[in-house]
Formats: sequence, structure tokens, C-alpha cells
Amino acid sequence: MGNIVIVGSGHAGYQLAAALRHAGNDDAVFLVGDEPHLPYQRPPLSKDYLKTAMKPEDLRFWSEEQFAEKAIERIVGVAVTAIDRAAGAVSLSNGHRLGFDRLVLATGTRNRVLAVPGGDRAGIYSLRTVDDAERIRAALATAASAVVIGGGFIGLEIAATMAERGLPVTVVEAAGRVMGRVVGEAVSRHHERVLSALGVGFRFHAKVAGILGPENLGSTGRVEAVLLGDGERLEADIVIVGIGVLPNQELAVASDLAAGDGILVDAGLATADPRIFAIGDVARHSSLYASAPVRIESVQNATDQARLVAARLAGKPAGAYGAVPWFWSHQGSLKLQIAGLGHEADETVLRGRPEDGAFSAFRFRAGRLVAVESVDRPTDHMAARRLLAGGTMLTPGQAADESFDLKALAMARPQTA
Ligand code: APR
Repeated sequence: MGNIVIVGSGHAGYQLAAALRHAGNDDAVFLVGDEPHLPYQRPPLSKDYLKTAMKPEDLRFWSEEQFAEKAIERIVGVAVTAIDRAAGAVSLSNGHRLGFDRLVLATGTRNRVLAVPGGDRAGIYSLRTVDDAERIRAALATAASAVVIGGGFIGLEIAATMAERGLPVTVVEAAGRVMGRVVGEAVSRHHERVLSALGVGFRFHAKVAGILGPENLGSTGRVEAVLLGDGERLEADIVIVGIGVLPNQELAVASDLAAGDGILVDAGLATADPRIFAIGDVARHSSLYASAPVRIESVQNATDQARLVAARLAGKPAGAYGAVPWFWSHQGSLKLQIAGLGHEADETVLRGRPEDGAFSAFRFRAGRLVAVESVDRPTDHMAARRLLAGGTMLTPGQAADESFDLKALAMARPQTA
């Protein structure tokens, strides 16, 4: 029996601990996390959590007793501060050391910080943990006007919730369209239109020059407005910052493991040190759906990578990581589902019409399907996942033709060539 140390108790870390036992591994498993809570689901934090009276307990994966039953040792509220590869041990923030035979880095990401004058005023929030969500929910109860900085998933999900409540809200986006990191033009524009109709204001190509408050209170006073680069002043007593994330890769870098916007791992999710793996949002790996290694921020990726490493550590055949990436975002009435990776797409066709409120954007690179972005078209999304997994040939013409039976093609036996 050996020691498996998992660093990070987010989705990937929890899922690995659970999957190890499920796969029959009986090593000693230590789950080290700097958050004080039992591992919990994050996706509801920007959605239902803000709209309902949900409690932190409602998001938990397992109870204290379930971790004990599975003999998973939780080291709570403690960070790993260094990896000693020569000794096969990690140092902990509580002064202890912990030996490992296998080490899995599931350290995730942290929110990018908006470094502008007044950026630390009261009333400015970013969302990562359940404690952040608690604070935002409490602030929303009394807010009279809001600005959201960043038009990604987080920013738009929160802006939609605000608008649904009748709270005046403006989204300030540095780029020319929303969700530019993850979707193509058609879906960006559709979301912009629908959210505008809901009452969300947008400023594109916008730069935040500073966050203003009562002059006599200095930069620590409460937020009163967001000042844009062109001089516009947007009144707000609550500001949400959702400008993307940075991978927590410092532990790997400090122990000479390769990283560059993510810890580099091979097809089996191992670093250059065969005892050390990285999974989830922090891992950069090659993908069948992109020409260069990618770092994927999604629950699906965390879960599937955890399962693959669990199988490897349980001595089961695991192969190369090749799961189809998929993502979702709920913004007001908009239900967006994405399969594959569209950032390298060179051709896009639509199936269905945006003006009807439901459509999919099929995205191709060099004639091959690489991603499908579906708005309220769950059957397209499920078909897309199967088509991408099977490497099935689909032409842009077929994708755009609503009389073409996509489902039948998706259900057909995958081609092998
Ligand atoms: N001012 C305004 N907008 C900015 C700035 C800035 N200084 N910097 C970045 N942005 C914009 C980007 O152009 C992008 O549209 O913020 C948006 C950030 O979007 P994402 O990178 O998708 O990140 P975010 O929405 O913060 O989500 C963080 O949570 O839900 C998950 O999948 C999501 O993993 C992601 C994470």
C-alpha cells in the first residue's frame, strides 16, 4: 500500500478521491485543501445559489461520514507550500510534511484581479467560493444599481440574474463581443441581443479606468461608480469582477515541472515526473479537438481527468485522455451548451435560426467538425458529443440542413478510419 496525496479539494480533487475508491484502489488517500468547507459543486454558485435560499450544505458532494467510510483522509484549511521531489514529500502550511508515492495536483485556478485605482473598495466582488456567493447574494438584496466587469460565463450569468430582478446592470467588456474565449460570433451576438432585451446594458472595447467612491473616504470607501477609459461614469453600488482566471501552477514551477498557462501533462496526465500528475482546470494537455495543448475550464474535464488518473493509479488500463470537452451556461432564459473546442474554427454554419430563439452553431476546422454551440437545442448538443467522440464525418451542408437526420448519423456506429 502506498500514499496518494491529492492537492486541491475542488471538483477534480474530490472526484479523484471518489474515483480511486470506486476503481478499487486501496492506497492511503490524503485530500489536502485550503478551503474550510467539505468539497462542493461550484456551477450553482453563479446561478441558483444567487437566486434562492440555498445553503452551503446543499452543494456538498459527500458528508464527513462518507469521506470517513471511504477512508479518505481530509486535510482541511491547509495549503501545500512545496513539493520535495527528491524526498517524495510535500510541505504543508501547518508546518507538517506528508510523504507521497503518487502526487496529484488538482490546484485549479484563481480569479484574475482587476488592478485599477479604487479596485479594493467595499462593494466589489468576485466569485469563486461559496463564501463569495454568500457575500454577493447578501449584497444583491439591497443593491440599487450594478456594473459587471467581464462578459464571460460568470459575468453574464450574474448580470442576467440581476436584470431578472429589475436591478439596472451594465456589462463592461474589454473585447468586442461577449464570451469570446469560448464561443463564436453568432452565439455571442444572440446572447447580447437576448440579454439586452432583458435590460442588461453593454459597453464593448471598454477599459476600466478606476472605481470611484465618496472622495473623502479615499480608495477604501464604498463603490459609487465605475469610470471607463473614455470618461463615462457608470453608477453602481455593487460591482462584480469576472475577468477570467489564472492557473495555480506555482507549486509545479517551483519543483521544476514544466508549465505555461497550466501544468504540462502527457496523454496519460502525468508530468515529466512519472509519480506526479495534474488534472482539472490547472492541467495543460493535448487534445484531439485542438492543434496545440489546451487547458480546459470545465466540470466535465475535471471529472473525466480524475477518472482517468484514478484508473491508472488503480492499475487498470486507462489509455490516453480523449474525452470530448463540453460546457454549459445558463443566463436568464438562455440555455447554452457547448461540445468540443471552437477556438480554431475557420468555418461556421447555423442549424435553426437565432430569431426563433433556438439554434446551434456548427464549427469546422479544415472541413472537420470541432465544436457545436447550442442555444436551447439539447438534442443537437447530445448528437454533437457523439459525433465528436466518434470522429464521424459531417459536412457543413449537412449540419445546416434541418431535414438531415443528425441524430441518426450520431447513433450510427463510429467510423474507424
Ligand atoms: N475589463 C473588462 N473585461 C475584461 C477584462 C478587463 N480588464 N479582462 C478580461 N475581460 C473579459 C474577457 O475579454 C472575457 O470576455 O472578461 C471575460 C472573462 O471571461 P472568461 O475568461 O470566460 O472568465 P470568467 O467569466 O471570469 O469565468 C471564470 O468560471 O464559469 C467558469 O468557465 C468559466 O472557468 C471559467 C471561470
